[in-house]
Amino acid sequence: MALKNHIYLLLLLSTISSCLKLSSSVLDAETDYNKWVSWNIDHHRRKAILEAKPTTQPSAGISTGGKANLDDKLRKAEMHNVSITVNQNGTGDFKTITEALKSIPPYNTRRVIIAIKPGVYREKIAIPRTLPFITFMGDSSDPPIITGNDTASSVSGKDGMPLRTFQSATVAVDADYFIAINVKFENTAPHEIGSKGGQAVALRISGTKAAFYNCSFHGSQDTLYDHKGLHYFNNCFIQGSVDFIFGSGRSLYENCHLNSISKKVASLTAQKRSNLSLESGFSFKDCVVTGSGLVYLGRAWGDYSRVVFSYTFMDKVVLPQGWNDWGDQKRDTRVFYAEYKCSGPGANFTGRVPWARVLTDEEAVPFIGTYYVDGDTWLITP
Ligand SMILES: *[C@@H]1O[C@H](CO)[C@@H](O)[C@H](O)[C@H]1NC(C)=O
Ligand SMILES: *[C@@H]1O[C@H](CO)[C@@H](O)[C@H](O)[C@H]1NC(C)=O
Ligand SMILES: *[C@@H]1O[C@H](CO)[C@@H](O)[C@H](O)[C@H]1NC(C)=O
Ligand SMILES: *[C@@H]1O[C@H](CO)[C@@H](O)[C@H](O)[C@H]1NC(C)=O
Ligand SMILES: *[C@@H]1O[C@H](CO)[C@@H](O)[C@H](O)[C@H]1NC(C)=O
Ligand SMILES: *[C@@H]1O[C@H](CO)[C@@H](O)[C@H](O)[C@H]1NC(C)=O
Repeated sequence: MALKNHIYLLLLLSTISSCLKLSSSVLDAETDYNKWVSWNIDHHRRKAILEAKPTTQPSAGISTGGKANLDDKLRKAEMHNVSITVNQNGTGDFKTITEALKSIPPYNTRRVIIAIKPGVYREKIAIPRTLPFITFMGDSSDPPIITGNDTASSVSGKDGMPLRTFQSATVAVDADYFIAINVKFENTAPHEIGSKGGQAVALRISGTKAAFYNCSFHGSQDTLYDHKGLHYFNNCFIQGSVDFIFGSGRSLYENCHLNSISKKVASLTAQKRSNLSLESGFSFKDCVVTGSGLVYLGRAWGDYSRVVFSYTFMDKVVLPQGWNDWGDQKRDTRVFYAEYKCSGPGANFTGRVPWARVLTDEEAVPFIGTYYVDGDTWLITP
């Protein structure tokens, strides 16, 4: 009897102490969160003040469409822009995109606008770091389709090894200052539920200062590899099943449509942010979320994953819980998953995980403009 009581007492004590420990670590995390959020608001204010000041004018007299802050390399590349045409019917400068890219000398310093005429381009394209300032320009009434069907488990011809996710991309961009306008990027590999190595990327963007206007990205698992750098997506359509926007980019998605073709439970995003010092994160503004299956808005790939949805319409396809910690509870206090002024049946906050955040106006501001990706130094009107 006495022994039993003793055990109860021990149990009680250990429960109390673990509760205390838990709540104190939650409190610490809450303090860290509040500190970061105030830092972020201040940081944004300071940046906005600096940017509003006219900068010194190194190249006075050159018109950059009023963009006084454009970085110098880009300004020069713009001034010396050239255009080439790709047409499969032989009336352009080249018949394939690959040939057009091959014609550009390495360490290119000019903006090269590649006008791609309508057609289905079955090409695997890699733009190396040495080819910055490339623009793919399609026709809005009939966008060219760049298509492939490699998956992570496809065997490459050269060494007989599987490609892995990174190499599965139909189009892979390692260069900076890439722009695509009116282009459809596609990976048609079928996704079998539960299959391994089914990751099939349509586009991987690893260069910084990249912009996509009126583009569409079609795939199923891992459609858009937003790998790293500053990226801007405007008026784009992105479709997939599992983790279909993923990576460590710092990106603003404005006016985009995300469509799930999942047949079960999946996640729209898998933002990877593995330590506190990284500036990466996805911000979705004025977007629309629709589709099939049931989706989380994001699942944490890395302990400090960061995703914000603002002014976004969410259809009922979004799970009430909203967010997923990928089975690792320590991430609950570390991730930054937030929503601001969203609407639609999927935006009901009642069932959300307790660690999802609703932002105040002040807290939301740093995420809802092109300044989130330092756009004033590199975004040019298409
Ligand atoms: C592109 O080059 C043409 C001349 O080839 C020039 O007239 C035009 O202003 C340039 N575009 C930009 C944005 O600088
Ligand atoms: C080739 O394509 C262009 C535009 O896409 C079109 O204007 C032209 O008529 C075509 N020429 C031939 C020979 O098919
Ligand atoms: C990929 O596409 C090629 C060409 O259309 C086809 O021969 C191949 O069977 C496809 N592979 C898969 C896995 O679908
Ligand atoms: C993008 O698409 C819209 C229609 O959705 C069109 O009005 C606009 O001109 C397109 N932009 C470009 C740069 O082609
Ligand atoms: C954070 O991650 C980046 C990229 O992986 C790495 O370069 C950096 O050293 C890391 N910083 C810390 C404090 O771990
Ligand atoms: C939100 O969801 C809760 C629980 O399912 C429900 O009671 C409530 O009516 C919903 N609110 C709206 C505005 O739909």
